[in-house]
Amino acid sequence: MVAFLALAALLPALAAAVPCVQFDAQFNLYAFGGEEDVNLGPSSSWSSPSPKPLSSVGRPPWTGTNSQCLLSQSNNAVYVIGADAADATSVYIYDIVGDKWSKQTTSGGPTSVGNSRSSAVLDHDTNVLFTISDTAYSLDLGLITNTAAGTAAWTTVGTPPFPVADYKGTAALASNHILYFGVPSTPAGSANLFVIHYNYFQPQAQAYPAVGGSNFPDSAGQTTSFLVQNNTVPYQVLYVPNDFSNSYVVTHYTDPASFNVTTGSPMPASLINSTQILPPPTSKDTNAAYAASDSSIVQIDTKGDIYYIANAVSSWQVAPGASWSKLSYSLKPATATTSATASGASSSAPGATKTGAKGEASSSGAAASSTGAASAAAPALARKDIVGFALGCAAVVAAVVL
Ligand SMILES: *[C@@H]1O[C@H](CO)[C@@H](O)[C@H](O)[C@H]1NC(C)=O
Ligand SMILES: *[C@@H]1O[C@H](CO)[C@@H](O)[C@H](O)[C@H]1NC(C)=O
Ligand SMILES: *[C@@H]1O[C@H](CO)[C@@H](O)[C@H](O)[C@H]1NC(C)=O
Repeated sequence: MVAFLALAALLPALAAAVPCVQFDAQFNLYAFGGEEDVNLGPSSSWSSPSPKPLSSVGRPPWTGTNSQCLLSQSNNAVYVIGADAADATSVYIYDIVGDKWSKQTTSGGPTSVGNSRSSAVLDHDTNVLFTISDTAYSLDLGLITNTAAGTAAWTTVGTPPFPVADYKGTAALASNHILYFGVPSTPAGSANLFVIHYNYFQPQAQAYPAVGGSNFPDSAGQTTSFLVQNNTVPYQVLYVPNDFSNSYVVTHYTDPASFNVTTGSPMPASLINSTQILPPPTSKDTNAAYAASDSSIVQIDTKGDIYYIANAVSSWQVAPGASWSKLSYSLKPATATTSATASGASSSAPGATKTGAKGEASSSGAAASSTGAASAAAPALARKDIVGFALGCAAVVAAVVL
């Protein structure tokens, strides 16, 4: 029993999943990485949410610490990276309409998809994934739609004009450019740029001066791109630096055919290369994840609490006096799932809200009754061992009593 208690004491050190949020192409909100993944519906329903569980069959094990959930808007599918510690460069694909997971096989590439939860972006127009790891990499998913197929090969993109060793990836997509925030020694209010369709790192940073406020800091943080209706490329980025000074809405527009032409922009010309300011999130969690529709911004922190501004942006302009609200539903982050969990969670029926971990614990509840507290916090793999150990202890106790 001493050995068991020592083992139980180690359990809290095993991390829970880091959850994420993302929208589908119709701007319904989803939260992933919980004991169950859920559809939280359109922003009009968030004041009284009714989460609908998604299929868990074949979903990521949520063992990674830098998970990212990226919408492939053309395919109405969410691509999840960094959520499988045992297969760091794999991509899990959630098909929204089919409520179905598949896992994309990849080859080559980095040993990880980045050192942060904002290292990678998915290019809207080409479905190519870009990330910064020990250098810049891409993964061409152009032939992938909403279901995994074949093998996609990672390739190096080229060497960024800034040292990546000390750079915590803080990247987002706007107007076919990748904006890199927080590159060391960049002036406040400026971001480094990669021009995707020219495969070109712009040597100088671009200034995005603040409209009515102070410039964003030169800091790592978290980012996401605002979606645009009708499957249009994003033009705006939400950037939340680790100092939580504000939430920054950065607008980037250049003509798709010519990166220095800015006529024909959908937004007022005064907003091109500008930063607008929204209040900082309520939850100051530097490891939170974000999503943005064409108007709403959403944060999920690592506890699974969800905060939002439903009407943060309208016609490219931030709403004056906007403030964050807390969703009355929180996602309970998954603990590491294993093959044992998959069997417990294999039902895709919406009513099957119990997790595999819970199902497994309850199925062995009689034997493990003395370990209930530890079991509640334990990942399935550890729990399986514990249940076995508890059975062993029970056998020893039984033998002694006899
Ligand atoms: C998207 O398409 C709809 C229907 O054609 C149109 O009413 C709407 O203005 C479009 N939105 C944008 C941002 O272009
Ligand atoms: C905005 O930034 C891009 C990238 O540096 C640049 O090509 C473009 O000329 C800028 N446009 C304006 C209006 O400042
Ligand atoms: C864009 O860049 C090209 C090549 O450097 C140059 O010839 C052209 O004049 C520039 N256009 C504008 C609008 O600045």
